Amino acid sequence: MARRKLIAGNWKMNNSNKEALELVNSLKDLVKDVKDRDIMIAPAFTCLSDVYNAVKGTNIKLGAQNLYFEEKGAFTGQISADMLLSVGCEYVIIGHSECRDIFGEKDELINKKVKRALDKNLIPVLCVGEHLEEREKGITSDIVSSQTKEAFKGLTETEAKKVVIAYEPVWAIGTGKTATPQDADDVHKTIRETLKSVYNESVSDNAVILYGGSVNEKNADDLLNMPNIDGALVGGASLVSDKFARIVNYIAK
Ligand code: 13P
Repeated sequence: MARRKLIAGNWKMNNSNKEALELVNSLKDLVKDVKDRDIMIAPAFTCLSDVYNAVKGTNIKLGAQNLYFEEKGAFTGQISADMLLSVGCEYVIIGHSECRDIFGEKDELINKKVKRALDKNLIPVLCVGEHLEEREKGITSDIVSSQTKEAFKGLTETEAKKVVIAYEPVWAIGTGKTATPQDADDVHKTIRETLKSVYNESVSDNAVILYGGSVNEKNADDLLNMPNIDGALVGGASLVSDKFARIVNYIAK
């Protein structure tokens, strides 16, 4: 089945408000004619409101880099789903490996965040991926399959169909090393198999599965033409407008 491609930029902890606006204003022009692909950028929380005003009415959608699952209250430093909605977010990245590894986010918390996002009609972009030692031990499939199952726990079929998954091998993030297109495609297939075993073929076929980890303007064409790769979650290269625009405009073969 034809799944619509999604090219997403995770800006991580980069860009002042002024820099964010310069970047998005330049990007807007470079991708303005793209109609058949979805584009999303996830700036830092501090820039969301102004970036939203810059992209409103364009083909660029806004995402956040995280949320907290509680509705509101005494959770210092946290951001709720309603707050994200109030500044125009449609997507939210959940379970990024940096949040798992640096901030100790566990599967159970990630599952609560996915549920909260769905309750509030935000599209979760759930990140899964193995560490280098896990790949070397040959347990990549077990890891991504388990992370997927845990994050989807308790979701109905309708909810499951709304979740975007990003496969990001931890060893490929910010390192310049990418999974080969075939290796990435194989893991994406494993994720589809997992969804088929938990739900059914329709959920598995529908799932939009992005690849992330050193995607750049040079390797994007090869990765994005693989049958099970439905887009990219781009870090470093999303901070440079012409590089990100080139990835958005990858050449379909
Ligand atoms: P890089 O593209 O910088 O490797 O980052 C990938 C990533 O973590 C996107 O979420």
